[in-house]
Amino acid sequence: MRIIGVYNIKGGVGKTATAVNLAYLSALDGYRTLVWDLDPQGAASYYFRIKPRIKGGGRKMIRGKRELDDNIKGSDFDRLDLLPADFSYRNMDLILGEQRSPAKRLLKLLRPLSHEYDRVFLDCPPSISLVSENIFRAADALLVPTIPTTLSLRTYEQLVEFLDGHKVRGVRRMPFFSMVDRRKRMHLDMIERLPSIYPEVLKTHIPYASDVERMGLHRAPLGKYAMGSPAGRAYQQLWEEVKQEMEAHSRL
Ligand SMILES: Nc1ncnc2c1ncn2[C@@H]1O[C@H](COP(=O)(O)OP(=O)(O)OP(=O)(O)O)[C@@H](O)[C@H]1O
Ligand SMILES: [Mg+2]
Repeated sequence: MRIIGVYNIKGGVGKTATAVNLAYLSALDGYRTLVWDLDPQGAASYYFRIKPRIKGGGRKMIRGKRELDDNIKGSDFDRLDLLPADFSYRNMDLILGEQRSPAKRLLKLLRPLSHEYDRVFLDCPPSISLVSENIFRAADALLVPTIPTTLSLRTYEQLVEFLDGHKVRGVRRMPFFSMVDRRKRMHLDMIERLPSIYPEVLKTHIPYASDVERMGLHRAPLGKYAMGSPAGRAYQQLWEEVKQEMEAHSRL
């Protein structure tokens, strides 16, 4: 089982779109795939047409009183399951704080699933918190959708500082450009600059495209209704690149 966190300190950068679209492609590729919707807003659950609700509430599950398995739901797609969000996740930091080894709780909860799933995607809420630290410590790869603006560079620096400062070493950082508008000078500048500062930036760009926005109307991954569109193809390319990166580093 390999765990892929999709994370950015910033909101609205395309985290959920990435988790949902890549998980769909992963399942299509033959991997038994799970998406854990960790955001109390429940957007990933919404895209998969699954009620954002955990039986007995999130606290019980995080405390280990109820198996993760009991709450996993099948999606409309083969090999693709979802662990839904719950409104109680808004207090996830408090719940995690009550546990022993609070920063490694999610990893501990996920371990028993290692024989059932090949790939797990964690769709994270924005902000930097105990929830995010859990994600950093659980994930083998950390996908960071980044809109190519100056502010995003600062945000990515903060993430790198946090990981270094907290000695999070087991995770491979994979930032990539998201919502790219090639008509914007600033986007082009940042696309040129960032990889020279951070060579780990992936090569694939996800364009700004209304096809992605329409996921909310279709309540489905992009691959279901617009696989051949420019954005659909970009997500396929991103998945190929992530897969290759993971294969190239045997640890992953
Ligand atoms: N490449 C794209 N082109 C155009 N719109 C996009 C693109 N990616 C995402 N969006 C839209 O932007 C909004 C935010 O995207 P998304 O929910 O994936 O971001 P997020 O980082 O998960 O946000 P949050 O921080 O609130 O969880 C959504 O309405 C989504 O449809
Ligand atoms: Mg989101």
